[in-house]
Amino acid sequence: MSQPEHSPRCLDAGTHAALRAEFPLVDTCVYLNSNSTGAVPRGGERVLHDYWETLRTWRDDVWQDWHVGLDRYADSVAALIGAPPGSVITDANLSTFLARVASCFDYHPPRNRVVITDLDYPTVPFIFRAYARYGAQLDVVGTGGPHLDQDALEARIDERTQLVCVPHASFTSGATMDLSRLVARAHRVGALVVVDAFQSVGVVPLDVTALGVDVVIGGSHKWLCGVGTGFLYVRPDLVPLLTPAATGWQAGDRALTFRPSPGWATGIRRFAGGTPYPPTSLISQIGLDLLLGVGIDAIRRHSLALTQRLLDRVDAAGIVVVSPTSIARRGGVVCLDIPDGEAVKRRLAARDVICSWRGYLRVGPHVYNTLDEIDLFMDALEEELHR
Ligand SMILES: Cc1ncc(COP(=O)(O)O)c(C=O)c1O
Repeated sequence: MSQPEHSPRCLDAGTHAALRAEFPLVDTCVYLNSNSTGAVPRGGERVLHDYWETLRTWRDDVWQDWHVGLDRYADSVAALIGAPPGSVITDANLSTFLARVASCFDYHPPRNRVVITDLDYPTVPFIFRAYARYGAQLDVVGTGGPHLDQDALEARIDERTQLVCVPHASFTSGATMDLSRLVARAHRVGALVVVDAFQSVGVVPLDVTALGVDVVIGGSHKWLCGVGTGFLYVRPDLVPLLTPAATGWQAGDRALTFRPSPGWATGIRRFAGGTPYPPTSLISQIGLDLLLGVGIDAIRRHSLALTQRLLDRVDAAGIVVVSPTSIARRGGVVCLDIPDGEAVKRRLAARDVICSWRGYLRVGPHVYNTLDEIDLFMDALEEELHR
């Protein structure tokens, strides 16, 4: 099934004003940095206060409510990505989950290859290089630039491939991948697809069931408007076939008896580790509920309207755009090639105009931003470039 078409359109003014009022950060600056760290809604303050009260009056019973909260957040992520309830689990961060997933496989020839791209976040090659000691052979497909060459990637996937690990959206350019094509190619030769969706989930629609992807990993502190939580989705029919070696007692089939477990839990909990830290999921729930209330298609349309305004202004100013400009391949971020860009980023920050720098100037507006803020950013950028 293909993704629904989205055309740029801002949220209606009333809905947008009510949503924006939930994010105090946007009152302190022009915040266009959600690809790095998303704004967190004001409800987080209450959760932190309640957490302290829980610690101050500690009783072990609180774990019952905390487990409900952890499951609720995981199921909310599942709802956003088109996954069934009970197919997503959370832990500290994406890297923890990627290393855990990687530990499920035997890297014996002939199927010992892991195909990744040079657009993957650095944690991906770092983890799979470490698995070389168990026989994993890393194959990094070069792009020669910020856009992925999907033909080149698919040509490298064959019967020797155990895993293909790709970003849904690149952290340096926002460029998105045609996952349905990739999954078809990988499955044709018996390889599994792991998608790093940290830079897409929350701003770009992703339907994991329709796409048939095997594993999706991501996190809450960017486009999901949360904090400190990674998430993992595993295709439900694949779950019973995977047994992580990088594991912890909560993944055991007898975890709650506090005795050694002979095997792994039957569901997604087999990808758990040790004792979780619930406050981050509880805070992250607030932002995710707001996003689910707006709906991912409306968020995408709003995002496209903002990035389109940016692209139009950048074009008029003669600034080089690194990101794809087509709607089909554009993510939530627009990256600009600017001379002395890192210094420009710092000067913008001194004016309370916040974006990030990763070789390019990355401008990441989200659903709480306005077209006026794009104009404020561009006015400030043009002044800095011409001073
Ligand atoms: C695409 C992508 N993957 C992974 C990460 C890092 O994940 P974590 O720090 O949760 O392991 C980031 C950014 O922090 C990212 O942009």
